[in-house]
Amino acid sequence: MNKIYITRRETFNAAHKLWREDWSDEKNWEVFGKCSNKNWHGHNFEIFVTVKGVPSEDTGFVINLKDLSTILKEEVIEQLDHKNLNLDVPFLNGILASTENLAIQVWQRIKDPIRKAGGELVKIKLVETENNYVEYYGGKEPF
Ligand code: NI
Repeated sequence: MNKIYITRRETFNAAHKLWREDWSDEKNWEVFGKCSNKNWHGHNFEIFVTVKGVPSEDTGFVINLKDLSTILKEEVIEQLDHKNLNLDVPFLNGILASTENLAIQVWQRIKDPIRKAGGELVKIKLVETENNYVEYYGGKEPF
């Protein structure tokens, strides 16, 4: 099977803070540092979504990028863009708003829609700053 990987990039910006209500101010500061700033801070996030498949004989596509783009717009960008991740996003309710946790939750939202569109989600890369990003493979170890 001639499998190939295709990646779609999208961007959004959002505010958050890393904070645990069950910890003291001092402990939050000690663990989360500047990211615990009570009055929030923001990031320009970049997300790279990689889908695996065999190119269709009819189209040459693993997945129609128009379909993938629509899924990402509806399930990710419209949910997160210009939002406060701690307050505004139902699927992050009660979840510490780290980049790791965000990537995991996004995976849960887009995995099935991508499958319905004919692809297999294999990787999410979520870039928080120019120096930090996470990669998630659905809990599998790719290497
Ligand atoms: Ni941050």
